[in-house]
Amino acid sequence: MLVVSLGGSPSQRSRSGVLLALAKRWLQQHGVEVVSYQVRDFPAEDLLHARFDSPQVIDLLQHIDQADGLLIATPVYKASFSGALKTLLDLLPERALSHKVVLPMATGGSIAHMLAVDYALKPVLSALKAEEMLQGLFAEDSQIAYGEGSVQPPLAEALERRLTEALEQFHRALARRPKPLDPHLLNERLLSARWSI
Ligand SMILES: Cc1cc2nc3c(=O)[nH]c(=O)nc-3n(C[C@H](O)[C@H](O)[C@H](O)COP(=O)(O)O)c2cc1C
Repeated sequence: MLVVSLGGSPSQRSRSGVLLALAKRWLQQHGVEVVSYQVRDFPAEDLLHARFDSPQVIDLLQHIDQADGLLIATPVYKASFSGALKTLLDLLPERALSHKVVLPMATGGSIAHMLAVDYALKPVLSALKAEEMLQGLFAEDSQIAYGEGSVQPPLAEALERRLTEALEQFHRALARRPKPLDPHLLNERLLSARWSI
């Protein structure tokens, strides 16, 4: 199983990035390969000038194409998801997420915008034809500790529980996806089908 992880924060020190890092570790421990991208790693010029042929964007697209799922996290900016993330999502083709399971997550300063995943991010992911969109996860800043030397555990207990539940659901949805048939097995099935006609 392959998952692309996409971070939408322009900040190097990022709470949504902490969620993604912990989610990546959990998925890897459960046998899932994770390829990570951060919006800030893409050349700003390519994003602002909507360069569809940007090598970094093409590389992301190739990984999304091969992936079973997308894990995406964004900070809430002005009651929506980050504009930087939108400039990147705008460069994906219309059906980029077809056949993918998607787990969207957001972090924000206040629970006043806890529905930003539902009313802002999910419609865009739907426009990209996400096949199975899981319930989003919202975390308040006060629930995430980060920074060097932080002695606190990175997540508040309640958030850690919700993240684990979301990841278990994501993992189950990934496992449910139809697997491509081994060419060997396919050949055998075709042969036996011929004999049974
Ligand atoms: C420009 C800007 C706009 C923000 N707007 C909101 C907002 O509308 N609602 C909210 O709850 N938090 C808002 N915040 C707080 C961030 O969403 C919050 O700190 C988030 O966890 C940052 O994620 P990051 O560390 O991954 O960048 C804003 C922060 C910035 C820098």
